[in-house]
Amino acid sequence: MMTRNSLDIAVLLSGSGTTLQNLIDQIEQGRLDARIVGVIASRAGAYGLERARKHAIPTATVLRKDFADTPTFSAAVWAQIRAYDPELVVMAGFMSLLDVPDDFANRIVNVHPALIPAFCGKGMYGHHVHEAVLAYGAKITGVTVHFANAHYDEGPIILQAAVPVLEEDTPDSLADRVQTKEREVYPQAIQLIAEGRVAVEGRRVRIRQDME
Ligand code: GAR
Repeated sequence: MMTRNSLDIAVLLSGSGTTLQNLIDQIEQGRLDARIVGVIASRAGAYGLERARKHAIPTATVLRKDFADTPTFSAAVWAQIRAYDPELVVMAGFMSLLDVPDDFANRIVNVHPALIPAFCGKGMYGHHVHEAVLAYGAKITGVTVHFANAHYDEGPIILQAAVPVLEEDTPDSLADRVQTKEREVYPQAIQLIAEGRVAVEGRRVRIRQDME
């Protein structure tokens, strides 16, 4: 892949959009060479849409509940994604399964608030993840950025970072610590893609260190 100056990204979300806000902030601070060409929400009233509008980013809503199954929902989402013509699709708290067309294989990224393959899969999202980590008694959790495929939390891993579980943690305090780490690692992974430094070989993602 060629080194790029700016990567056009479309963002998919279902909720409050703190992940989107972080990407907007990183771009505005010149730390992420990307342009958000559109935001698509799968739930009515997702606050992430407001955040996008405040920054004059085009928005669309494709409600999961309006569709009977994943294929029909996915077709509607992809029609909207293609209208925005992004180079990369970024899932930012997107809570629905999405089919992946061949031309977008390894062009969709997701962030998961645990160290995949632990505490992931269907039903493992948001607070459920942190509750499960505490209930299991794990001492370390973390953040995984990965390419998304048509299964929950399964595609090749781009970056991971560990976060300690502390003695006094509640699901809320653990979520805060993990999300602080997400705000570093997710833009980093997208920046590596923008710089053309990421290559996928089977399940392994190679990151080129030196582009000079
Ligand atoms: C983030 O913590 C993200 O890791 C998690 O949901 C939160 C979204 O917050 N994603 C998942 O659990 C995906 N399996 P946001 O809606 O405020 O961006």
